[in-house]
Amino acid sequence: MQYPPRVELANTPTPLMHLERTSEELGVEFLVKRDDLTGAELSGNKIRKLEFLIADAIEQGCDTVITGGGKQSNHCRATALAATRMGLGSVVCLRIDDKDNPPPTQGNILLDRLAGAEIVWIDHEDWSRQEEVYAAQADRLRAQGRKPYIIPEGGSNEVGTWGYIRCAEELANQLGELPIAQTTIVYACGSGGTGAGLVLGSKLFDFSKLQTQVAGFCVCDDAPYFQRRISGICDKFLERYPGIATATSEDIKIVDGYVGEGYAKSRPEELACLRAMASREAIIFDPVYTGKAFYGVTQELSKNPGRFGERVVFVHTGGIFGLFGSALEASFS
Ligand SMILES: Cc1ncc(COP(=O)(O)O)c(C=O)c1O
Repeated sequence: MQYPPRVELANTPTPLMHLERTSEELGVEFLVKRDDLTGAELSGNKIRKLEFLIADAIEQGCDTVITGGGKQSNHCRATALAATRMGLGSVVCLRIDDKDNPPPTQGNILLDRLAGAEIVWIDHEDWSRQEEVYAAQADRLRAQGRKPYIIPEGGSNEVGTWGYIRCAEELANQLGELPIAQTTIVYACGSGGTGAGLVLGSKLFDFSKLQTQVAGFCVCDDAPYFQRRISGICDKFLERYPGIATATSEDIKIVDGYVGEGYAKSRPEELACLRAMASREAIIFDPVYTGKAFYGVTQELSKNPGRFGERVVFVHTGGIFGLFGSALEASFS
């Protein structure tokens, strides 16, 4: 596979780990693709996308990246650290309820600051027109003689998508070494880039030969929203890299119904499920993405044990730093 320019930031390939106790508990062969092990500070799914995005920024001669997300954004933390690793500056626009009341320097925010990122607090109104906010930051940087590169929310665009195409190639190789079984690769869907890469990769690396399909659990919005969003990323991908891969709406499978109280809001049953997994397997999910998606997997399987075939591969997309300062931390005190 001919990939575009990439800087090496992630420890890959990540392990595909068989979890025996969870397989027994869920009544299905259960494996975890350990993308939480792509690094320590630079861990999780975002770093795979950033390998291609930062390479693109460097190719364009840029010296500062601009991006944004929720206040505890894993993506912003990974971007800030990746930029610093590569000798670039970073501006991260973090969404909070009240710009005059910034949150404490905890979890990902602490790491943003350690990486030397410039933090710009934005509110929900700013977020609703985030492209304008990034463009204004870019103008400000240009006026200072700097060359900015804008990375969209979650690094989810046609360039970042290569990160999960590369992960799909790893999965095809790893699954190819196992006995063939009806398999579903599941992942938490937040801004669509992981999903777009896995779906495009599933076509490129012929997952159907491995009897394998891909399904995302949305952690915000709903299935029609993500179907639109992922096919939008796939369309842009095809425009920029003609002839490589394409996906139809049937390829984009989204499982709805587990957003619960809303984005980054946890229900006690989700946290209990996260704690049970941690104490059973020493696999630490985060409350916003992986914990919610895994709770969804358990519920779907309890309703229909054959729902995902004989084997589930859960892509652990990271997010451990989001635990700190969360409702989960508070639940122990
Ligand atoms: C830990 C974690 N898992 C999953 C996701 C969702 O990935 P994507 O934004 O590519 O849909 C994110 C970020 O949004 C994340 O930080």
